[in-house]
Amino acid sequence: MANKNLNQAKNAKKDEFYTQLVDIENELRHYKSHFKDKTVLCNCDDPRVSNFFHYFSYNFEQLGLKKLITTCYKNQNRDLFSQNDSERAIWLEYYGDKNGNRVPDPEEIGIHYFEGDGDFRSKECIELLKEADIVVTNPPFSLFREYVAQLMKYEKKFVIVGHQNAITYKEIFPLIKENKIWLGYGFKGGAGHFISRYEDTATAGDHREGMIRVSGVNWFTNLEIQKRHEDLILYKSYLPEDYPKYADFDAINVDKTSEIPSDYFGVIGVPITFMDKYNPQQFEILNCCEPCIEIIVLREKEGFKEYPSRQKMHNGKLCQKTYHRILIRRRKPTGDSVEANHYSPLQVGQPTCYQQPDIPLPMAAEDPESYNPVNKED
Ligand SMILES: C[S@@+](CC[C@H](N)C(=O)[O-])C[C@H]1O[C@@H](n2cnc3c(N)ncnc32)[C@H](O)[C@@H]1O
Repeated sequence: MANKNLNQAKNAKKDEFYTQLVDIENELRHYKSHFKDKTVLCNCDDPRVSNFFHYFSYNFEQLGLKKLITTCYKNQNRDLFSQNDSERAIWLEYYGDKNGNRVPDPEEIGIHYFEGDGDFRSKECIELLKEADIVVTNPPFSLFREYVAQLMKYEKKFVIVGHQNAITYKEIFPLIKENKIWLGYGFKGGAGHFISRYEDTATAGDHREGMIRVSGVNWFTNLEIQKRHEDLILYKSYLPEDYPKYADFDAINVDKTSEIPSDYFGVIGVPITFMDKYNPQQFEILNCCEPCIEIIVLREKEGFKEYPSRQKMHNGKLCQKTYHRILIRRRKPTGDSVEANHYSPLQVGQPTCYQQPDIPLPMAAEDPESYNPVNKED
């Protein structure tokens, strides 16, 4: 249900939902050391409603910031709920508390007017981007690809909110694969409640007044965090009957990240939620695709659902496509033998280095939004 909200938002380009202060605090407490002497830019943020502005202006001294810049978009085609209703687009700059009351007073905040509408892609906004060291915001989901491309082009550090399905975008996945961007600590339970006047379709237990619940949201960043160096503890052993092979190439399917076998060193397809546990020292990412499994194999699995629209013939056999899978492989152990691998408890005689697979691996999704984006398996 919650993803209905997301789909509605994307389809109608309804980007007006606002991040709660508590979610910003929960994520940014892991990055505090990065902010010292830095200029932070929040470039999709109406300061009157943005908790990013609130967080950085109130924590300016504690973080040791150099400067805070916030730009406010004046949405030309604003919908009923848009709060970007200033007469003109503005941007603010803040250099910290001057009068010693530890509060950002209006007279301490420089207000400037844009010539244009404050679109993050405009020349005026790009000039401010160039000045920034770290960009932190929740950008419009409908422009996520362009937004990230611009950050990469100007080589900016960032911490931004996005949907986990963006991992599979053909513009984003290569950045993930090459370890240029990764996931942050994330939202509790993998879902966020955002302040919004859009209709919330969350179930009664999940509903919060004045908010919409969006599942699958996460933080994307290129700032170093401890989390991405923590090993995923693997406890399952490989049994061929538990891990069906794909019909279209040589890899096994894993439906839950926690069930990655500890003793399998070939190519493994895992749900995109794996990225939340990804440690580049432990695993190598090879690709992202929607592989298929023979239907005869799937029918043996408890709770298996048939989706005729996801079925296809492969080598004369009926198969069903899985949801997106990240193809991964365990990293080469650091010692001379696999026994020296601290996260691999077994397998004497396993190869100590791995060949690139000679199978042609499928490409990342062209248009991953063409079907229901919910990653149901994990
Ligand atoms: C998901 S909302 C988040 C708002 C705010 N960053 C927060 O987290 O509370 C995305 C915001 O980006 C704004 N926006 C949409 N298109 C934009 C553009 N081209 N340039 C800058 N901001 C834009 C929307 O008006 C919306 O307020």
